[in-house]
Amino acid sequence: MRMSRKRPQRGGALMDILEIIEAKKHGRQLTPDAIASVVQEFTADRLPSYQMAAWLMAVWFAGMSREETAALTRAMLESGEQLDTTDLGGPTADKHSTGGVGDKVSLLLAPLAAACGLRVPMLSGRGLGHTGGTLDKLEAIPGYRIRLSNTEFFATVREVGCAIVGQSDNFAPADGKIYALRDVIGCVDSVPLITASIMSKKLAAGPQTIVIDLKTGSGAFMNDLQRARDLATSLVQIGRLWDRRVAVVFSDMDQPLGVMIGHALETIEAFATLRPEGHRTGPADLVTLTEELVAEMVTVAGLRPDRAAAIDLVREVWTAGEAFACLERWIAAQGGKIDPDRADFGLAVAAPIHQLDAPTDGYLQRVDCRAVGLALVDIDGARRAVDDPIDLSTGVAFPVSIGEPVVAGQPLAIIHAHDRAAAASAARRIAAAVTIGPEPVSPRQVILDRTE
Ligand code: URA
Repeated sequence: MRMSRKRPQRGGALMDILEIIEAKKHGRQLTPDAIASVVQEFTADRLPSYQMAAWLMAVWFAGMSREETAALTRAMLESGEQLDTTDLGGPTADKHSTGGVGDKVSLLLAPLAAACGLRVPMLSGRGLGHTGGTLDKLEAIPGYRIRLSNTEFFATVREVGCAIVGQSDNFAPADGKIYALRDVIGCVDSVPLITASIMSKKLAAGPQTIVIDLKTGSGAFMNDLQRARDLATSLVQIGRLWDRRVAVVFSDMDQPLGVMIGHALETIEAFATLRPEGHRTGPADLVTLTEELVAEMVTVAGLRPDRAAAIDLVREVWTAGEAFACLERWIAAQGGKIDPDRADFGLAVAAPIHQLDAPTDGYLQRVDCRAVGLALVDIDGARRAVDDPIDLSTGVAFPVSIGEPVVAGQPLAIIHAHDRAAAASAARRIAAAVTIGPEPVSPRQVILDRTE
């Protein structure tokens, strides 16, 4: 790539990239045009990564005003296609999770929200590192098509109430490029950068209501609840500028969500939990968080006047089997074949070949959730780099929650894998990630707070 100092600005004037970097480095406010030119030039491969990295790091340190964050969001949004979801036959709503370990909520939430009367056109991505992606979980279903034309996608949402497809590079392509760079220069945890990244993608997908599941804890990229609150305020403000209703639920990611980690295993757990009896028998944290997020979507979209009425509606469609029936219609509409009479729904799962037992009596006091997520990398069930192939059939069952008593010899983790040495190495990683001690500790609450 040839590098020059002068860069074209919108409207034809020339803008100096070094001036823009210097201005931000000294904490000065940038004009919308300056921000747009940085995004456009980088997306078009005319701005070298080292200058973009310098600019991003300056933003990390100096921050951005609401106007600058809006300009960044707009530039990233306008880098690609924007869907028009005004004609889907009902109020549209979507959910975004900031990512975690065992997070299979979308697989239950989409059919639940649809059964409540919402239209849910979801675009989802792949997992990287310790966090899993919904798209990978859906690919564990035989025949499921993650790519649909916009016409097929909208027709499915109109008929069934929901559809989930892969987020193509056509939506906010600037975010894909910028995020990949942020990831390798230690610039992910910046409120304006995260806001623009999330909102450019969500605005491109078009729903009127957006509920964000903002995770904090050892398995999330944001550990601190105060910073999470700043991010929530920023997301809500930017949503308002585009006339979208945005609500944020703060949830705990100090331990994996549910029991299963790994793509096919998580998909099976999600589907089993969505059965009518799953509301009672499924993992309590998964049920509570899913219920809360759907109720938030229902309330914010105006289908019910308050949270209590919304929770009643969600429980009703769940326990009456309407949500499960919707799940079956949605999967079939996207070509997927599941057998609801089987416990594994017909998905391929690796055999359980290694068990990690508790070394001593005590209480599960702490989990390094990120490390448990990374154990999946050891058994080829998660990616180190974006293009790595993965094995959707491997995974880990992690049946104990923080605060629970354990006795020596009780299973802490069951590894489903094809290779014994890899399974043993995953087990060692998990053993180092859990703390068992003699003192009881309080169980974690999965819902930490919500924006009003
Ligand atoms: N999730 C996103 O989509 N973007 C970020 O920047 C962080 C989490």
